[in-house]
Amino acid sequence: MKSKNVKYVSIFDTTLRDGEQTPGVSLTTEEKLEIARQLDRLGVDVIEAGTPISSEGEKRAVREITKAGLNAEICALARTTRVDVDAAIACDVGSVHTFISTSDVQMKHAVNMTPEQVLSATIDSVEYIKDHGLICEFSPMDATRTEINFLKRVCKAAEEAGADRINIPDTVGIMTPVTMRKLIEDVKSVVGVPISVHCHNDFGMAVANSLAGVEAGASQIHVTVNGLGERAGNAALEEVVMALHLIYNRKTGINTKLLYDTSRLVAKLTGVMIQPNKAIVGENAFAHESGIHTRGVTVVPLTFEPIKPELVGRKRKLVAGKLSGTSGIKAELKEAGIYPNKDQLGEIVRRVKELGDKGKTVTDADLLAITRSVMGKVVKEKRIVDLTDLAVVTGIRVIPTASVRLVLDGKEYVTSETGLGPVDAAIKAVQKLTADLAEVRLKEYRIEATTGGSDAMGEVIIKVEDRDGNVVSARATHEDIVMASVEAMINAINKSLLKRRNRDKQA
Ligand code: KIV
Ligand code: ZN
Repeated sequence: MKSKNVKYVSIFDTTLRDGEQTPGVSLTTEEKLEIARQLDRLGVDVIEAGTPISSEGEKRAVREITKAGLNAEICALARTTRVDVDAAIACDVGSVHTFISTSDVQMKHAVNMTPEQVLSATIDSVEYIKDHGLICEFSPMDATRTEINFLKRVCKAAEEAGADRINIPDTVGIMTPVTMRKLIEDVKSVVGVPISVHCHNDFGMAVANSLAGVEAGASQIHVTVNGLGERAGNAALEEVVMALHLIYNRKTGINTKLLYDTSRLVAKLTGVMIQPNKAIVGENAFAHESGIHTRGVTVVPLTFEPIKPELVGRKRKLVAGKLSGTSGIKAELKEAGIYPNKDQLGEIVRRVKELGDKGKTVTDADLLAITRSVMGKVVKEKRIVDLTDLAVVTGIRVIPTASVRLVLDGKEYVTSETGLGPVDAAIKAVQKLTADLAEVRLKEYRIEATTGGSDAMGEVIIKVEDRDGNVVSARATHEDIVMASVEAMINAINKSLLKRRNRDKQA
């Protein structure tokens, strides 16, 4: 563990181990390697790469990660048995994290061992790891439900056997900041090596409990990107780090500007999407809709932004809706290069609110359509991308394929793509043709039937994000859902391009 100064907190990332224990998540070697490289760029101190004993694939992945020449310490998880530790050592890791249950309930019903057997397995495993010249981190699993005197005995025994760090896991997430603080103080009173905390989120307190551990003297926190992990997950890396930096005035090795990209990569590769209101990395974490807020942040961002979006690789987003005020909408239109007069702006705001009151999401495209109808010819509908042709093939034993013909900046292009279904294929084909012009990522796709029956109109609402993190939304309605999807995508790309070109002009 680095001890650059007393205020430094080491970040032990277990996305590739506890995070991969998220139900439904399974990563290939290549995916684990890609995440490990990103974690290394991010600046974590330790990467827990996996549990080598669990499978051949896991061994291969851990080995590949140790071979990748990363700066972080590469760690593997092992129970306190020699076969587990041997499997970890065989992967050439720099450290082994060895653990054993210490609570009565787990000793009896999970590992079927007596406290004395647990003590001797701990000592044997720690000594064995140290005999191989590796860094050893020891965890008394379920520490927070372990009888305190036994917990102290095990931790002391592990330290005497040579453990370099003692990690205190709140395995079932039952601590509060107050009880966590007390526990870490108790362990610290008998242990001299650095103490780490590993908190689960069963009651939504993993981050708060981890920070309480630091207040009590822990110098390392176990975290996962996006808070992935068993059941309700582990303490989220991005939340822990930002709280350490901005609230606790502590240092970490994390380059916070890479937090958002890291979160997106992990969400993409694990398939676990992020809730919109998730702190730091959620879609809405830096979005403002209500009048008071949008006016505030456009004048002095600090009014409603405790964290500068750029600090975590994000952009502020003003959203039009029924709660919007004049200055928020004025600022949004300015981004698109549109400057309505006072009366026009008042009418645009009135119509936006009217749409919002009907329960509609007001997309960027809606705002421009309203503006166009209020301001008339002044706002020309600039379309950089236009659809001229679309054909899709789908059915049983046929790979869904779409061919699209688009006009881009006045020139015509054609391409085909396959997909999981006709909509996927068509959207991919549009993205392929427009990639050079507008590299956008589909962030959200929603379809609603606006009328009943099999001839219902399908309304598609799409959100896309450009490479700089700017998000725009658009909608389209059609009785053919493939057409509605392609038109919505093209509308979104046009808005994204228009906004980008205006930003470039204003810069
Ligand atoms: O939650 C837990 O107790 C663990 C151990 C392996 C440390 O993940
Ligand atoms: Zn855990």
